[in-house]
Amino acid sequence: TEAELLARFEAIIAADGKIEPRDWVPERYRASLVRQIAQHAHSEIVGMQPETNWLTRAPSLRRKAILLAKVQDEAGHGLYLYGVAETLGADREELLDALHQGRQKYLSFINYPTLTWADVGALAWLTDGAAVVNQVPLCRSSYGPYARAMVRVCKEESFHHRQGFDLLWTLTHGSPEQQRMAQDAVNRWWDPALAMFGPPHQRSTHSAKSMEWRIKRFTNDELRQRFVDICVPQAEALGVTLPDSALAWNTDRGHYDFSPPDWDELARVVAGDGPCNRQRVAHRRKAHEDGAWVREAAMAHARKHSDRAAA
Ligand code: 3HC
Repeated sequence: TEAELLARFEAIIAADGKIEPRDWVPERYRASLVRQIAQHAHSEIVGMQPETNWLTRAPSLRRKAILLAKVQDEAGHGLYLYGVAETLGADREELLDALHQGRQKYLSFINYPTLTWADVGALAWLTDGAAVVNQVPLCRSSYGPYARAMVRVCKEESFHHRQGFDLLWTLTHGSPEQQRMAQDAVNRWWDPALAMFGPPHQRSTHSAKSMEWRIKRFTNDELRQRFVDICVPQAEALGVTLPDSALAWNTDRGHYDFSPPDWDELARVVAGDGPCNRQRVAHRRKAHEDGAWVREAAMAHARKHSDRAAA
């Protein structure tokens, strides 16, 4: 009966076990996971755009090869995650439609422009750094396929974060103009990176339930604090200043105090009114339309092989 299935589901969660695709799950658990995983997948594929902007202008072959590898990793993460959503019964075409029609979201920071080469470094150091902090606990998420996908994704995100640090390090140890460029990029990416963790706990719609179901392990605020605590010594090592005059070590709390990002701005960007929202979605739609022939060719190829196997 449904009561028995629910009791079994709750027992797995209570024992900190893994839910697998074969297991019965409550519809709300399924829907919330599809929502989060689809948003995550969309963020990976739309998140390629701010960087591809710089592929043809990377200052050396080495930097270009690194950036190409990073962008390809993100495409791979997207594919992994759409695959995970499919194990929950979601349809990939429908998820992409929802992205293209604005019914599903991707993370807000992707709607900011990469104005200079230093932005490639700041974006990676800060937002990939934030992605690692956010996603490492997801390796212990209650949904098995999501948790397992996160293990590899986190390893690759750590490389992305590290190359961003290395890029900025080169600039902060370069000419005064390069140092200014690095500082300016950090100034512009700090708040979008803080906002990545989502609204404060009291205003978070899904956290309570997601934590009860052990999809999420920490509140948005706990992870944001962890991120700030990690960034301060790294900024000192880089020789850049984080753009927040309230940033100070709090001995009582054992954490850094900091100013929150502008929540009204986050709401505006999420609602579609950030600096690059329209451009990002239009580019995504065009890439999808331009890729139609590849999907058709792949389907024809698969059909040919299955017909041959059946013959
Ligand atoms: N940007 C856009 N929307 C956001 C957001 C943000 N920064 N933060 C929260 N939201 C949305 C939520 O999706 C939710 O909207 P919905 O109800 O329409 O789905 C609403 O705001 C309320 O937020 P909640 O706190 O209630 O939502 P969650 O509990 O889902 O927490 C989250 C938000 C922390 C982002 C969580 O969904 C999560 O951990 N997601 C997985 C991590 C992820 O998406 N990572 C992508 C990284 S991108 C990347 O690495 C690409 C890079 O390499 C280029």
